Amino acid sequence: MPAGVFSVPAQSGSGVEFDAKITPIVVTSCVMAATGGLMFGYDIGISGGVSSMDDFLRQFFPTVLRKKHENRGSNYCKYNDHGLQLFTSSLYLAGLASTFVASYTTRRLGRRATMLVAGVLFIVGVIFNGAARNLGTLILGRILLGCGVGFANQAVPLFLSEIAPTRIRGGLSILFQLNITFGILFASLVNYSTSKIHPWGWRLSLSLGGIPAVVLTLGALFVVDTPNSLIERGQLEEGKAVLKKVRGTNNVEPEFNEIVEASRVACKVKHPFRSLLHRHNRPLIATTVLLQMFQQLTGINAVMFYAPVLFATLGFKNDASLYSAAVTGAVNVLSTLVSIYTVDWVGRRMLLLDAGLQMFLSLAAMAVVMKIKVTDRSDNLGHDWAIMVVVIICNFVSSFAWSWGPLGWLIPSETFPLETRSAGQSVCVCVNFLSSFLFAQVFLSMLCHLNCFIFVFFSAWVIIMSLFVLFFLPETTKVPIEEMTERVWKQHWFWKRFFIDDGNNHGVNTTTVYQSSPS
Ligand code: BGC
Repeated sequence: MPAGVFSVPAQSGSGVEFDAKITPIVVTSCVMAATGGLMFGYDIGISGGVSSMDDFLRQFFPTVLRKKHENRGSNYCKYNDHGLQLFTSSLYLAGLASTFVASYTTRRLGRRATMLVAGVLFIVGVIFNGAARNLGTLILGRILLGCGVGFANQAVPLFLSEIAPTRIRGGLSILFQLNITFGILFASLVNYSTSKIHPWGWRLSLSLGGIPAVVLTLGALFVVDTPNSLIERGQLEEGKAVLKKVRGTNNVEPEFNEIVEASRVACKVKHPFRSLLHRHNRPLIATTVLLQMFQQLTGINAVMFYAPVLFATLGFKNDASLYSAAVTGAVNVLSTLVSIYTVDWVGRRMLLLDAGLQMFLSLAAMAVVMKIKVTDRSDNLGHDWAIMVVVIICNFVSSFAWSWGPLGWLIPSETFPLETRSAGQSVCVCVNFLSSFLFAQVFLSMLCHLNCFIFVFFSAWVIIMSLFVLFFLPETTKVPIEEMTERVWKQHWFWKRFFIDDGNNHGVNTTTVYQSSPS
């Protein structure tokens, strides 16, 4: 047996369902923790609306304001300004960098402490943003917000996946995405109201992000940490007590033993990031990276970041743009509720495949409408066409909301074994932020250059991602989180080869323990 690897009798992979009730403490903890999603959502939704407000543009981007009101130049290019794109995208860059630190804190200090840090960073960012007098302070505020979101997105999905009983893990984990969508909707409604307050409405928009951050900070003070995290940090007795409390039963021995075993394995791993590169982790990491990249390549953030700008490009008046953005925001929330109810019985794959078809049709329809109705100089859609555009976009958003939106976060958070769970989640958040950053940075330029073909581009990606789901994505529904490797990955027609070819024993009856340094 090569150095650094040893085997112990397996306790996982049994397929036994653990005794667990849906206790009030589980539900309240999840609801509290999920408010981390509100902060992320608020950021996603707020920047587009603020970017379309004249008072804001006058203060920070006077050239864009001039272009917006000049009747010259291509309609598709009015908002093509790198500084304006940086306002949206800087948050994602900061979030990306902060997840590496957050990976350390979720592992060493716990999920709960990391959520607390997230809330505090976000509150400071909000203060900078609301008070900004120059572009520097504005961007600095966005960077702090990004760090807050980076910490929250790292800790919250792990918290939810670990604390939830297996049979409703999907539903409870989706609370995170539900809060993202609430945050986006709240932001659009705020923008709609503050756009009428001159000249400081935008300040109010940026400051109200403090509300979800305060909720998360207070929530983090009250929730218990997950049994998995307590046990991983050596607090076995407390971990067991919390497990009894959250499961509502004293019969937690089998689950407790499984977590202790997983954490014994986890403690051997000194360098979780390096360990992610081991052959047997490649299927998990590849799937995580692809799910997050695909999530962005659906084109969802064309709508979420820039809905008001996009609607304005299509010729909607200022009020109508903000109003339509709020309508798509509401559809986003309602459709996420659908996935909370369906994800644990229909399964992850079915939701993704159904949504693929619906998204493809919406994107294709959008491309056709834009081709016919929006020419370089004319953007007068007319009432009927405008309604049709809103319907198509709502259809697209709704299919994203019950599929790629929640599942892009849920599947990675439930798929990694404890030893690489924090590091894996970090990669997940990083890829999300990196793709969102690139997207925010290039979307307006792409719209300017590709015009209606931008929707053809996204629809081609939807076909590719659906094929990936069909052939390569295993079903993770109803599998206990610490049994995922044995019962899912080692059984998959394609990915199983990664568990048998590396000269290590990955047999079904043993659990293989990996060490980054030889013992
Ligand atoms: C994605 C965001 C997106 C949001 C829309 C999230 O899952 O990560 O990029 O804006 O869903 O609801």
